[in-house]
Amino acid sequence: MKISGVILAAGKGTRMKSDLPKVLHSVLGKPMITYGQRAISHLAHKYVVVGHKSDLVAEELNNGFIPVLQKEQLGTGHAVVTLLKSDEFRDDDSDFVVIIPGDAPLLLKENIDNLISVTSQGNVALGVLTASVSDPTGYGRIVRDGNSISKIVEEVDASEPEREIKEVNSGMYCFNKNFLLENIEKLDSNNEQNEIYLTDLIEIAFQNKLDTVIVQVSEDTIKGVNSMSQLNEVENSLREELINSHMENGVYFQDTSSTYLDEEVVIKAGSRIMANTHLTGKTEIHENCIIGPNTVIHDSTVGEGSTVTFSVLDGVTIKGAGIIGPYAHLRKGSVLEEGVKVGAFSETKNSNIGSGSKIPHLSYVGDADLEENVNFSAGSITVNYDGKNKHRTEIKKDAFVGSDVMLVAPVIVGEGAMIGAGSVITKDVPPKALGIERNQQKNIDGYMDRKKPKDEN
Ligand code: UD1
Ligand code: MG
Repeated sequence: MKISGVILAAGKGTRMKSDLPKVLHSVLGKPMITYGQRAISHLAHKYVVVGHKSDLVAEELNNGFIPVLQKEQLGTGHAVVTLLKSDEFRDDDSDFVVIIPGDAPLLLKENIDNLISVTSQGNVALGVLTASVSDPTGYGRIVRDGNSISKIVEEVDASEPEREIKEVNSGMYCFNKNFLLENIEKLDSNNEQNEIYLTDLIEIAFQNKLDTVIVQVSEDTIKGVNSMSQLNEVENSLREELINSHMENGVYFQDTSSTYLDEEVVIKAGSRIMANTHLTGKTEIHENCIIGPNTVIHDSTVGEGSTVTFSVLDGVTIKGAGIIGPYAHLRKGSVLEEGVKVGAFSETKNSNIGSGSKIPHLSYVGDADLEENVNFSAGSITVNYDGKNKHRTEIKKDAFVGSDVMLVAPVIVGEGAMIGAGSVITKDVPPKALGIERNQQKNIDGYMDRKKPKDEN
C-alpha cells in the first residue's frame, strides 16, 4: 500500500495581515511549513501546493517535497484539483492521499499514521481527523448523522444550530485516491466565500453511501493558525513542551513564561536559565552554566561553567568558564578561550581572546587577537576601521593595556608589554616595553588662590 502526502500551502493567509506567506511565519525559529513536512516526511510521495509567493515557500521545502503551483487560490478543493491534474502528480502510484493544511504546526506523525491505519482498513472513501473544542470559531463544523459524518459546513455557511457544534474539522484527511479522482471535479463554489471547498467531498461520500471514518484527536493537535493571536497560541504551546523536555533533561528554568527558546537549541544538564532569556538559532549551552537573567544568545556556543548575565551574544564561541556581563555585547566571530571575562559595557567582534584574558569594563575589541592573560583596561579600544578598511590588532600574552588606550590598527603589542593609560598607540610595542604616548603633565602652583572669587567677576 502506497501513501502520498500533500500540504496545502498556496494561501496568502489574509487574516494574518502580513506580507509574508502564512506558512513561512516562524514558529520556534522555524518556518511553519517545516512542521507539516515533518508530520508526513515518511510518506512515499510528497507534494506541496504553493501559490502566493510560491518561490519563497518552495525555498523552505525539504528534499522529496515537490512544489505544485496553484496560480489562483480559489479554495482548498481547487488546490487539490490543481494537484491531481498537475504534471508532477501524473505518475503518482499511491493508493491513498493524505492531505494536510500548511498552517497546523502541532500535528504529529503519529496522528497521521493513526488516520492512515483506520482509513486503509476495509472499503473506506476517506478518513478525517476531528476534535471537540471549547471554541469552534473559524473552523468547519462536523455534521453527523448517527455515527457517520454527513457533511462539513464552514462557519460562514453554517446555520445557527450548526454553529453550536463543537466538533470541528482539522483539515487533515486521508483519501482513497480513486474516490478523490472520481469526485474532485464535482466540487463547486456555491457558498458564501465563492470558494471551491475540499470539505464538500464529505457530503458527496455520504450521499453516495460510501464509508467514511472519523478519528478524534485533541484540540491542540489540530490548532490552525489563521491570525497572529493563533500563531502566538500555537507557539506558546510548543514552547511549553520544549521547555518541559529540557527540564526532564536536568536543565533549570527560573521563569518559563519569560524564556524563549528555538527548537534546535541544545542545553546540557546542570545549566540554569534565569528569567527573560532568549536562546535562538544554533545555540548550545554546555553543562553548569548560568544564563540570564535578561540575556539574548543567538547562534552561539557557551562552554561549560560559564555565566552570562544581562548580555547579548550573536555568533560567539565561549570555550569554557567565561564570565560575561552584566551588559556585554559579544558579536559575530568572537572566540573566547577558557576563563575569559568580558564585563560591563564591553563589546567584542571578530576577535580571538586567549584564556584568562580580561576586558572588564567599557571597551571595544574588534578584529583583534589577544593571547593569554591580557588585561584590557577600562575605556580602551581597538581602532580597527580607518573609514575604508578593517585592520587587526595583535596583543601578545601577559600584555597590560592601561585605561583609555586607543590601539590604532594594524598594530602589535608585544608579550608582557605595558601601555600607559591615555595613550594613542600607532606603532608596534616591543615585548616587555612600556608604550606611552602622552604630553608631560604641568602643575601650576597657587593657581586656585590667584583665581578671583566668583561673585567678584
Ligand atoms: C479549512 C477548512 C475548515 C477547517 C480548517 C482547519 C475548507 C473549506 N475549510 O479552513 O473546515 O476547519 O481548515 O484549520 O477546507 N489553501 C491553498 N489554496 C487555496 C486555499 C487554501 O493551498 O486556494 C491552503 C492554505 O494555504 C492553508 C490551507 O489550505 O494552508 C487551509 O486554508 P485556510 O484558508 O487556512 O482554510 P480555513 O479557513 O482555515
Ligand atoms: Mg486555516
